[in-house]
Amino acid sequence: MSNLKLSETRAEVSWTLEQNDFEEVAQIARQYFGLALNESKKSLIQARLTRRMEALGLSEFSQYLNRLNGSHGVAERQELLSVLTTNVTHFFREDHHFKTLREDILPGLMARARAGGRVRIWSAGCSTGQEPYSIAMTVLDMFPDAGSLDFKILATDIDPVVVKKAQSGSYTPAELEGLPAELSKAFVTTQAASSAQLLIKEDVKKMVTFKVLNLIEPLPVAGPFDAIFCRNVTIYFDRETQAHVWGELCAVLDDNAFLFIGHSERISGPLAGKMQKEGFTTYRKVP
Ligand SMILES: C[S@@+](CC[C@H](N)C(=O)[O-])C[C@H]1O[C@@H](n2cnc3c(N)ncnc32)[C@H](O)[C@@H]1O
Repeated sequence: MSNLKLSETRAEVSWTLEQNDFEEVAQIARQYFGLALNESKKSLIQARLTRRMEALGLSEFSQYLNRLNGSHGVAERQELLSVLTTNVTHFFREDHHFKTLREDILPGLMARARAGGRVRIWSAGCSTGQEPYSIAMTVLDMFPDAGSLDFKILATDIDPVVVKKAQSGSYTPAELEGLPAELSKAFVTTQAASSAQLLIKEDVKKMVTFKVLNLIEPLPVAGPFDAIFCRNVTIYFDRETQAHVWGELCAVLDDNAFLFIGHSERISGPLAGKMQKEGFTTYRKVP
């Protein structure tokens, strides 16, 4: 029998997500995405599932579970991921990381690139693109010739919807929150089809390659990377998955290269000896 029930009046929608249904969703989330759904988030998850079921015109939770496990399974599980995670991001989020990038990392990397060397930075869990574009703008602001060198930024996310949005480089003024005025002037154009949308300039976009990538699957990238931003992504992972992801990222980081993580994340366990803490949520790979 279905366990999620919609109340009579739409204005006062109220559902009851039964424990066994919650556990089934949690199991799918863990199996496919490495997410660890927390019981404390149950009412939030319930509210978000409500919206998804309403969009599909479903009134019984059993119908939704059938959809997740049936012929629409692959696509619906992707939707479920969007339902369960947040894509919240903004330009120059946790600005201290960009200060470290500017002051401690980029001068050395640019010297190498100008000498004909290769430089790679990865934004892993890039959401709608504000993070990788913040990196590219920081680079181009300091070194306008970087775009003509072998200096590239990889930006990946598990969610194809956010990757597509990121690729478009098209944002509303509200989505440009956090972008300093001088960088906006230099790297954003108002030459968009609609005045409500502003476009990231081509020289910035050209530095960034976007791809869909699930961090809990074997990584299809070899590196070595000179810096990895993986911020506010592992917050939903269980400890084991988190440790696995840190280990994989460490493996593709160059010696002495930097890993930036989110404000509520910490590297612990066996990897702690390999990743030396350099500052708040900033780590460096020990050779
Ligand atoms: C809160 S956003 C963080 C965006 C950006 N890194 C920042 O700090 O502003 C988290 C992103 O992680 C992505 N994500 C969640 N699980 C993932 C996984 N298994 N592999 C890759 N990306 C994942 C989500 O789709 C979402 O876009």
